[in-house]
Amino acid sequence: MNLEQLNQVAVKMVTPGQGLLAADESTGTIGKRFASINTESTYEKRRDWREMLFRTDHAMRNHVSGVILYEETLRQTSEDGTTLVDLIKSNDAIPGIKVDMGAKPMAGRPGETVTEGLDGLRGRLNEYYELGARFAKWRAVIEISNPERADQVTPSWGAIKANTHALARYAALCQEANIVPIVEPEVLMNGYHGVQTCHDITHKVLKSLFADLFEQGVKLEGTILKPNMVVAGKRCPVQPSVEEVAERTVEVLKDCVPSAVPGIAFLSGGQDNVQATENLNAMNQIGGFPWSLTYSYGRALQQSALFTWAGESDNYDAAQKEFNHRAKMNGLASMGEWTAELERAG
Ligand code: 13P
Repeated sequence: MNLEQLNQVAVKMVTPGQGLLAADESTGTIGKRFASINTESTYEKRRDWREMLFRTDHAMRNHVSGVILYEETLRQTSEDGTTLVDLIKSNDAIPGIKVDMGAKPMAGRPGETVTEGLDGLRGRLNEYYELGARFAKWRAVIEISNPERADQVTPSWGAIKANTHALARYAALCQEANIVPIVEPEVLMNGYHGVQTCHDITHKVLKSLFADLFEQGVKLEGTILKPNMVVAGKRCPVQPSVEEVAERTVEVLKDCVPSAVPGIAFLSGGQDNVQATENLNAMNQIGGFPWSLTYSYGRALQQSALFTWAGESDNYDAAQKEFNHRAKMNGLASMGEWTAELERAG
C-alpha cells in the first residue's frame, strides 16, 4: 500500500469547487432511469448517454474531480474509439469504479439487507487498477422502518454491524490495491420517519463504521466518506428547514468523522436537484471543518440533463447545458458560494 499516493488521490477527489459524478448505476438502475424518458436501455444507449456527460468539457474540467463508473463503462469505448476512461482522464478527472454486488436480503433479519461482493474482490481490484480506476465505491443500505409498525423495527444492530464490517473489509482490500475506498453507508430517505430518527440512526451507523475501519486497519488519510445528509423521510409530514438539515448533518459528522479523513462527498439519495445543492451550500457556509464537504451525486447531477436528452441525439447540446449548470451550482455549493440568483440565471 502506498499511503502517500492514496492520500493524494483522496485529496484531489474533494478539491474545493469540485466533486464526484456518480454515473455508476447498475444495468437494472439505469434501465429504470431510461424508462422514465421512454428510452430502451441498450449497451449503445448507455454509452451514448455517459459519453455525452464525459464530453461536457466545462463541467468535467472545472467541477468534476472524479467519476464513479459501473464495470461495463470502465471497459467501454466511445464511437471514435477513445475509451471512456481516457475521456474522463483527458478532462483531468479521476476514474473510479463501483465494486459492490448490491444489497441482498439478509438471513435472519427480515426486511433488511447486507451488501455483497467481498469474495474475489482482491483480484477484481487489481484488474480495475490496470484499467485505470484509482478509487472505488461500496454502498451499504440502511432502511428505517415505518414508525407505525412496531412489529418490525429497523435497522437492527445486526444489520448495521454486518454492513459496516463489510464496508471496512472492502476498504482494506482497496487500499492494499492502491485504490481509494469511498465508504458509503446510506440511510435511506424514503419512508415516514422524522428528522430526529435519521439523526440518531446516521450517528449510530457512522460510529459503527469508524470503529470497524479502525479494526480492519484502514488508513483514514486514504479514505473518502459518502454519507446521507440528516433529513426526514420523504413521506414525513414535518420536513426540516435547510438550516436544520445543515446543522444536524454537521453535528453528526463532527462527532463521528475523524479529522484524518480528507473529505466527505454526499449522496443525493432522492432529494430534488436544487435542494441537494442548497443543503450542501448551507453546510459549507457553516464552515470551519477539518475535511472538505462536497458532492458525489448521481440523480441530483444527472436528472435534469437526462430529461432534456430524452434519448435523442438532437438534444445533445441542450443536455450538456443542463449538466454544466448543475455541476457549476454544486461546485459553488462545495465552497458555500451558491445563491438562488445564480441558480435562476441558468
Ligand atoms: P444519488 O446521488 O442518486 O443518491 O446516487 C449516488 C450514489 O452513488 C448512490 O450509491
